[in-house]
Amino acid sequence: MSHPFQLIDDAPDAVPLLPVAKPALADWLGARPEHQRAWAARADFKAEPGATLLLPDGAGGLAGIALGVEPPDHADHGLWSYAGLPDALPPGSYRIDATLTRDDATNAALGWALGTYAFTRYKARKDVLPSLVWPAGADRGHVLRAAEATVLARDLINTPAADLGPAELAAAARALAERHDAELSIIVGDDLLAQNYPAIHAVGRASAKPPCLIDLRWGADGDPKVTLVGKGVCFDSGGLDIKPATGMKLMKKDMGGAATVLALAGMVMAAGLKVRLRLLIPAVENMIAGNAMRPLDVLATRKGLSVEVGNTDAEGRLILCDALAEADGEQPALLIDCATLTGAARVALGPELPVVFTRHDALYDELARLGAATADPVWRLPLWPGYRRLLDTKPADLSSTGDSPHAGAITAALFLAEFVSSDTPWLHLDMMAWNARARPGRPEGGEPQTLRALYALVAARARA
Ligand code: BES
Ligand code: MN
Ligand code: ZN
Repeated sequence: MSHPFQLIDDAPDAVPLLPVAKPALADWLGARPEHQRAWAARADFKAEPGATLLLPDGAGGLAGIALGVEPPDHADHGLWSYAGLPDALPPGSYRIDATLTRDDATNAALGWALGTYAFTRYKARKDVLPSLVWPAGADRGHVLRAAEATVLARDLINTPAADLGPAELAAAARALAERHDAELSIIVGDDLLAQNYPAIHAVGRASAKPPCLIDLRWGADGDPKVTLVGKGVCFDSGGLDIKPATGMKLMKKDMGGAATVLALAGMVMAAGLKVRLRLLIPAVENMIAGNAMRPLDVLATRKGLSVEVGNTDAEGRLILCDALAEADGEQPALLIDCATLTGAARVALGPELPVVFTRHDALYDELARLGAATADPVWRLPLWPGYRRLLDTKPADLSSTGDSPHAGAITAALFLAEFVSSDTPWLHLDMMAWNARARPGRPEGGEPQTLRALYALVAARARA
């Protein structure tokens, strides 16, 4: 029988896993039997994080497996300490032979669960995975919700655009809505024009797959209103200002923001957090055809501001501006958008550190603290008002890009800010949504960056 994320209740024959951090190695070895001490020396075991050493029992059998882990004060809080094991251990059952705090036990199990992921839609995995006995004290509900949400987002991001267009993204939202008894409405194609979402339509109209706006609501009306917006560009060719091949290659992931907020919504609903949740995902393909938007076209937007298209490859901010205007109109207690919005954000902070923008210092401080606590870090860039003039243009209220080659992540965020009132507690996350290199628990491919940090923030906003 297979278990979710290879986490099992108990196994009498489970092999003990013996975690040891580098600074404690000498003491730890001192407490082992002599033959194991000699064995560890012979194998040059240094307790590097993730390193394993099979320990002999002196009779030709296996006594346990030593595992190098990060020291207790490490920024990862043990989340990744066990995450490499599903790939590294032979099939069989294992248990952690150590006393873990509740948080450490939860993190150990979550890291393990995240480490069992593989994208198997087109090719089954060949290896048989090992199983871990649930560490005592772990918050099993949280582990399963977080792992399931992460898998959902990874699968959506990893699925190529041929099999994941706006309709399939909408189907994923529908499945989630049905599971949690949420209300769902989807505005498709020309109905976007009739219902005043002109910028979403303008970006998506050149695709054979019609654009749509996914709108999910859940929770009690009186609870704090939390609205999530995600960039759902299922493929970004760049449009007429076409991307070069290297820049286009990964653009199936340009719905990573949408996948992240969808996963977050799933976690919030599964946990039953007392919030009034709204999820808005403008879903499009940015494609090339005779009816495609052109550079310097002037678009109408939901808010009424006219926007001159500086480059058709700056499509994310166009679909988001209509969704944000709609979200902002309800004056949510918390408004979050997630988007693979700019290459410039990656230039600034690299692929592993999502950029956050907000007008509200305390909100940033809270998210940064929660990000650090969940091994899901973010860093802030400013909504620098001095650069707002870069978006000025003669023919329209604002340009989508301006002409400056600099500060691309900031000007994109300043563009979005035009559609959100200054008193709305709003966070804009500009992220990669992709692991460019494999690390324990994070295989190369789609990744809902900021999911754990944002969940913690929404949980902090929920009515008790
Ligand atoms: N989806 C891209 C941004 C992107 C590229 C994110 C690579 C992560 C990795 C976005 O739609 C885009 O093309 N942005 C342009 C904007 C420019 C034309 C003003 C960019 O960042 O180059
Ligand atoms: Mn683009
Ligand atoms: Zn894009």
